[in-house]
Amino acid sequence: MNNKENDLVTWSDTFSCGIKLIDDQHKELIRLVNEMFMHVTGPKKNELDYLTEVIEKLVKYVKIHFSTEEKIMRAVKYEGFIEHKKAHDNFIFSIIETVDEFTTGKRKSLYFFTRFLKDWIFSHIAVMDRGYFRYCRKLASRKEDGRLSITNKDIKQAVSA
Ligand code: FEO
Repeated sequence: MNNKENDLVTWSDTFSCGIKLIDDQHKELIRLVNEMFMHVTGPKKNELDYLTEVIEKLVKYVKIHFSTEEKIMRAVKYEGFIEHKKAHDNFIFSIIETVDEFTTGKRKSLYFFTRFLKDWIFSHIAVMDRGYFRYCRKLASRKEDGRLSITNKDIKQAVSA
């Protein structure tokens, strides 16, 4: 028996990277994973119907997010780009493989699949994303509202310096 209420995640500023677009995308990924936890029902038929509906949305969103990060990493000439991109590609492959296992009955439940997504996303944000966050922070500048953030202008200035 799972305890999905304990699996729900609340956004915290400790996850923030200072790039609003990336923070917003990470928030949306967390929202999607929470939504999946709320649809863990137990009855396989209900979960399969839900998974079919949500997985396309999730994969599409993950791809948009990865593509955004990869554009930023390329723009700022981040040295860890190749390794980071490889992790993104492997994750997409794992999602597709896991969905396949789930739909062919090899995977036990939507709960385990959602746990897999949550664990991967959080360990990735905490380790790999943090690597380029640190790199990007060096490019940030103080804006009119007093907050330290990164805009396209900061990136352009940094790469042309
Ligand atoms: Fe936020 Fe590298 O994924």
